[in-house]
Order: sequence, then C-alpha cells, then structure tokens
Amino acid sequence: MGLEIPDIGLRAKPELLPLTQIIYRDMCNLQPGEKVLIISDARTPEYLNHAFQGMAMAMGADAVVIEGASPRGGATYQPSAVWSPMIEAASREADLIIDFGVGYAQFIFDALKRGARVFSPSDGIAMPYTDDVLIRTILHTDIRAVLRRARKIAGLFSEAKTCRMITGEDAVLEIDIADVQGDMGAGTLWDPEEGKFIANWAFAPPSQPGILVPKGRPNGEVLVDGTLLFHPIYHAAPPTPLRLKFVDGVLTEIGGDPLFAMRLQDWLEELDDESARFGPVHLNIGVNPNALLTQHPEWERVMGSVTCGMGDLSMLSGMAHDPLPFELSKSAVHWDWTTLRPTVMLDDLVLVDKGRINKDLC
Ligand SMILES: [Fe+2]
Repeated sequence: MGLEIPDIGLRAKPELLPLTQIIYRDMCNLQPGEKVLIISDARTPEYLNHAFQGMAMAMGADAVVIEGASPRGGATYQPSAVWSPMIEAASREADLIIDFGVGYAQFIFDALKRGARVFSPSDGIAMPYTDDVLIRTILHTDIRAVLRRARKIAGLFSEAKTCRMITGEDAVLEIDIADVQGDMGAGTLWDPEEGKFIANWAFAPPSQPGILVPKGRPNGEVLVDGTLLFHPIYHAAPPTPLRLKFVDGVLTEIGGDPLFAMRLQDWLEELDDESARFGPVHLNIGVNPNALLTQHPEWERVMGSVTCGMGDLSMLSGMAHDPLPFELSKSAVHWDWTTLRPTVMLDDLVLVDKGRINKDLC
C-alpha cells in the first residue's frame, strides 16, 4: 500500500482561521495576556505562522514567531538534534509554545518543567499540507467523540495485565503491562467537554491512546504493512509487509519485504548503536476517523492501526507526573512503524479485530 496524496494547496484556506480558533480555544485554552511563542522553520508554510500568530493576537495574547534553521535529517534524529540558544532563550518566556519544527528536544522538556504548555499541530514538523491535515482531522472531526474513545481505551490498557498483538496469520507480539497505566495520547492540552487540562504537551491531531512500553519486555513478531519512519526525512510504506522479530525488547531479526528489510538493516548497522534496536517503546492505537496514511504523522491516528516507536523514549519518561515504576529506553534516535490491520487483545478482550475497533468496548 502506498502513501495517500493530500490536498497540497499554495494558498491559505479560509478554513484555517476557524481551525486555528478551535485549536487555541478548545485544545490549548489560550487566555488573554498569555505569551505565545510559535517556533517555525523553512518547512512551515508562511500562512500557518500568520494564522497562528494573528489568531493569538485576536484572542488578546502576546504572540511572536521565531524561525530557526531546519535541523539535519527528519524526525528520526530529533532526540539528538542541536537547537539555537536564541530559540531556547525565547522558549523560557513562553506560556504556550506552538511547535512547528522541533518535536523532542531538551529545551522543550525544560519549558514544560517550568510550567509552559506545548502544542505541536504537526507532530514536530510542519509541511505544505499541514493545514489540510488539521482541517480534516480537527475542524471536520468530532473531537469530543475522539477524546471520549481515547479515554476509554486508555482505561482498558490500565486494567489489563497482558497486551497481545496479532498481525497477518502468525505474527504475535506479547507485552507484560501489569504495572503500566494507559495513556490517552490525547493530541490536545485541554479537554473542552470536561473543561480541564489533560496534558501539558500534545501532538495533533487527536488521538492515539496506548502505552509507554517498559524496556526489555516485548517478545514476538510483527508484520509492518503501513508506514516506516526511519533514516529518510520522509516516511515510506513497504510494498509488501516487513517482518520484525523482538526478543526481550530488542529487535533481533528483520525479514519480509526484501527492499525495506535491506534498507532498515543497513541503516541500523551503520548506526552501530544497540539502543536503536530497543523496542517497541510505545504502542498506540489510531482513533481519528479522518486521518490518512500521508507524509504527515497523522498516520499514527489512522483508525484501528497500531503505531509503535523504537529507540528513545527517555524524555517522555521524565514528563510523567509520578515516577514510573519501570525503565524506558534511551537512544539518540527514535523511529516508528505502523501496522494497519492488527488484532489487539488486552488479556481476553479483543480491543481491535483485524483493524476494526470493538465498538462494544469503547
Ligand atoms: Fe514514535
């Protein structure tokens, strides 16, 4: 399956303005007098910066755009990217950071620790059709219903002792999650239905409930038929499923699609870093009815799909309000894979059946 082509327009869509208002009002709870820092780079269309700066001003906030250099490589290398101290200095003043270009970084983590909130409309990197993605998955989606389902799924993960994922006919991945709390992966800072903040760092679009996976636990195999995000700046979809084998939380064998298996194997060998093979480090279920398999990380929210991360998850562990009772992986890279038609079992409950979410449960 190839990636889908979104609406790539060269002008600002009028829907961008009501969309931006919804993001600030219903997802960030922006208040008059707050300081908004929009972090951008050359990959961000100018009209996105203008819309987010202008709407924040219209709502009585103090809004500034700062544009830095695009970091080398794509999202894979975010954990080890180096940022200008000028961007870091500006981030110290912000109440709300709109992140169009950073993703995972120590200064974002530090801003959160100081009490700032961070909303990433593009899950780290803005692109020419980020507006199309957000209009489809936020403005034209019942976000409240998405959040209700995400909350229920997070609760089911919290109650379960074991998570089993079956892909294809015979690939089974099993994880002991007895002491793991489910995470809404809400994709919003503010829950407009409950009228309260539910996160201080959010990656849009909503939502991808799931778990942070303790280091060393996943065992088994998985078939990857969706997206693969690794070394290349852009995401790729293997023409035939890639088969990954895990032993005690380490990727030990790569098979299946010959081209992608070879490329992934070569990349990992060149990195020569065992920590890049740690995983899965997170497991999340997509629950947005309008998310597509495009180059935007909206593919992590494609309905009924499962996305798992590999490599680093150490920054997120520090974000948990309570110390976690288990260790998370630390690495210089973070990469992801998606499987589109998984069966996900939480103990004896079938939460997802070949890519179809069980509506009786959530
Ligand atoms: Fe990830």
